[in-house]
Parts: sequence; C-alpha cells; structure tokens
Amino acid sequence: MRSCRALIDTAALQHNFRLLRARAGAAKLVAVIKADAYGHGMHTLARTLTEADMLAVATIDEGLQLRQAGCRLPLLVLQGFKSAQELLQIGSQQLIPVVHASHQVELLRQSGMRLPQIWLKLQTGMHRLGLAAEAFSVAHAGLGQQADELVLMTHFACAEESDSSVTNAQIECFDAVCAGLAGSHSLANSAAMWSLPETRRDWVRPGIMLYGVSPFPQQSGVQLGLRPVMQLHSELIAIQHCRRGDRVGYGQRFVCARDTRIGVVAIGYGDGYPRHAADGTPVLVDGAPATLAGMPSMDMLTVDLGPDSKAQVGAVVELWGDGVAVETVARHAATIPYELLCQLTARVSILTQ
Ligand SMILES: Cc1ncc(COP(=O)(O)O)c(C=O)c1O
Repeated sequence: MRSCRALIDTAALQHNFRLLRARAGAAKLVAVIKADAYGHGMHTLARTLTEADMLAVATIDEGLQLRQAGCRLPLLVLQGFKSAQELLQIGSQQLIPVVHASHQVELLRQSGMRLPQIWLKLQTGMHRLGLAAEAFSVAHAGLGQQADELVLMTHFACAEESDSSVTNAQIECFDAVCAGLAGSHSLANSAAMWSLPETRRDWVRPGIMLYGVSPFPQQSGVQLGLRPVMQLHSELIAIQHCRRGDRVGYGQRFVCARDTRIGVVAIGYGDGYPRHAADGTPVLVDGAPATLAGMPSMDMLTVDLGPDSKAQVGAVVELWGDGVAVETVARHAATIPYELLCQLTARVSILTQ
C-alpha cells in the first residue's frame, strides 16, 4: 500500500460544526460537502454531519451518490439541473435544486412539477451563477406555484477580504431586489457568516471552516478556534547525505548551504502535493521541523532534515495537519487551501479516525 494517507478526524469535524452552529445563531446550517467534501471524503462527512439542517453538493451526480449510499438528509444541489431528465432525478430523489438561470425556470415550467423547496439564486455582482434582477423577479412570480417553499439566495465574491465594500454592495442589491418577495434568505459562506453577522439571515452555507481551515488570508483556522480535520501523512523512503554545494532534484533548484541530510518523502504532485511549493515549505518529520528542499516530483519530494537529524527511513512525515497548517503550505505554493485539499488524488488513502 502506498504510504501517503489523509487521516480524517471526525471529532475535529464535530468540534468545528458545533462552533459554526453556535456562530450561526438562529440560522439553519447547510454543510457544504461538494468536491468529495473538499477532498475529505463526502460519504464519511455526510455520515458524521447528521445534525446539519441540510447538506450541499455541486452536482446531481454527487447528490445521487449520497442518496445511493443511504443519506436521508435534505440535499441541496448548487448547480441545479440542466435537462428535463435531471429535473426528474431531482424530483424522484428528493434533491433540492438551486435555480440560477432562465433555461432552468423554463424546464420547471414545462414539467409542471411541484417540489417541496426551490432555492432561487440572484446574481448580485459575482457574475457566475444567478439570475439578473428582472429575470429573478419574473422567476419568483412563476415558481411560487411550483414550490411549497422558496429560499432566495446569492453568493459573495470577496467575503474573506477585510474591506467589505464589495460584499456590502452585494447585500444592498440582494435586499433591494428581494424586498417584499416571499421566501427565506441565504447569503453567507464561511467567511461571511463568521465576520458579517448581518449576512446570517435564515440559512448559512459554510464549507471550508467545517474542515478546520480559515478562509481569511491573515488568520489560520486554529487562531479562529477550529481544528484541522485532515492530517496528510507520508513517510521517509530514503536519506541522502549531501555536502555543501550539492544540488537536489529536478532542475537542481535546491543547493545545500551546508553538509546536511536530505530526506526523500513518498508523496509528490501525482498524489496532489503542489509542485509549486517553494523551498522552505514546512513539514514535520517524526514531529521535528524540516523544510522542503527542491522541486516536488511526481511520486516524491525532498526535505532538508538538517545535519543533526536522527530521522530514519520509515519516519512519519506530516505534510499538513495539526503541526503544519494547510494555510501555510498554500501560502508557500501561491495558492489557497481549498485547492490543496481538493486536488489530492485517488492514490492517497482516506482513513477515518
Ligand atoms: C454557493 C456556495 N455556497 C457556499 C459555499 C461554501 O464556501 P466556503 O467553503 O468558502 O465556506 C460555496 C463554495 O464554493 C458555494 O459555491
């Protein structure tokens, strides 16, 4: 078996869920578990998050997989449906669609179906999914007959930024268009529900913070009181005794500034570790700090253990988790933690603790 593994700590997940639940106040909580629960394993998370009011996935396929695995919680499909056939699946599997475009409104009208709940999405400035104001009002009038309950939603483009002017403009747009329209409201992702109480409304939709990770560039999840749910581990499979001036790895990027021990770790970009991580990215080897030394390759990466290290082949290496924040690795790789978590490949075993 390949030695790299993602250990999933369900107690940490429950801790984060409770923290977010408390922060949400009276709002209902939709736990966002799309993209295989941000790489953590959608089925395990769905089985653990039984106290969520609803789960959210991106696609019908994800929703159907959860239903087939026996998940009975309300399931929101964030991209909704794109054909009459998918709409039938929504109905038969009791999935809740987000309606974000006019072609979906038309498919619903043609079907004559009545659904228990429909989420209607307003485009307020992100220009990704969502109906523009006028189409939204028209859809609202029509869909009122086809749903027992409507939830009016939007999504923020910059909620994690300390300057909330874009978010405030989106809130103003939402409130202006939705004034007087029947339906409950859902605006907030993790960053908004955490830092902007006025966005909590009736339903909040946290994703990244459930996993113990901060959406804010200046703060880690741990600083916010969260616990990382994933520990990404591998092991040392070889050690090189290098001399000052020796060069390590493809492109010879790393040059040893002293005689040192270089550890070879069984994880690379073929497992999802970022190839663009810079020299100096932290790791822990049997609990001792070490740093990336050289460009990660497909199946391996190299770390500077230091001349006095006693680490041996077989030592456990933490790439991220309790000792190395995934937010820190993301910064060293010029990306965001969301991407690192989602891009782990099938070669990494996901083990639940
Ligand atoms: C519509 C919608 N709501 C909520 C979320 C959760 O966002 P976050 O993981 O930043 O909390 C997402 C994630 O991309 C989303 O697309």
